[in-house]
Amino acid sequence: MAPRVPDEIDVFTAPHSRMKELVNIYTRKMSCVDFRDVPEVVTLLQDLDTTLREFKSHESIENIFIMDQLKNRLKQHQISNTAVCDCHNDNQLSDVVQLVRRGTQVRERSVGERITFGLQLQQAFQAFVNTFLPHMEEEEQVFQPMLVEYFEYEELKVLREIVLKEHELA
Ligand code: FEO
Repeated sequence: MAPRVPDEIDVFTAPHSRMKELVNIYTRKMSCVDFRDVPEVVTLLQDLDTTLREFKSHESIENIFIMDQLKNRLKQHQISNTAVCDCHNDNQLSDVVQLVRRGTQVRERSVGERITFGLQLQQAFQAFVNTFLPHMEEEEQVFQPMLVEYFEYEELKVLREIVLKEHELA
């Protein structure tokens, strides 16, 4: 495990605490929602839609303010690192987004179709969580030390402030 960096230059831990909180909330919700109950499913899908946007926004903030900066810095040092380039290309988030969009027709579905849909949604969300948690771990354990290696301390302080502000955590 990489040593912890001072909070003021740690760009991942605070946003990830929020992401992990959301993962826990929706893992719980997903396991107890009754997919036979239309209003319950509609509420779940509406809340999930907002949360998926937050996950997408997190990804986008990281791409723009962290990964692109890191890629550029590595390029200056003539280092190629495909992990940095592809780090948001293979998660399962879009599968969940597509299912939630399809779920808007829930009212027209039979009970059996809703239960099948519920199982698909639970499986897709679990698959997303199974890649998202190790992905965040990799960012904290691998990319944060790279940032420390290739950026000045003061640069990282500024970067962290921007990242927290973009996440509305500052
Ligand atoms: Fe911090 Fe790329 O999730």
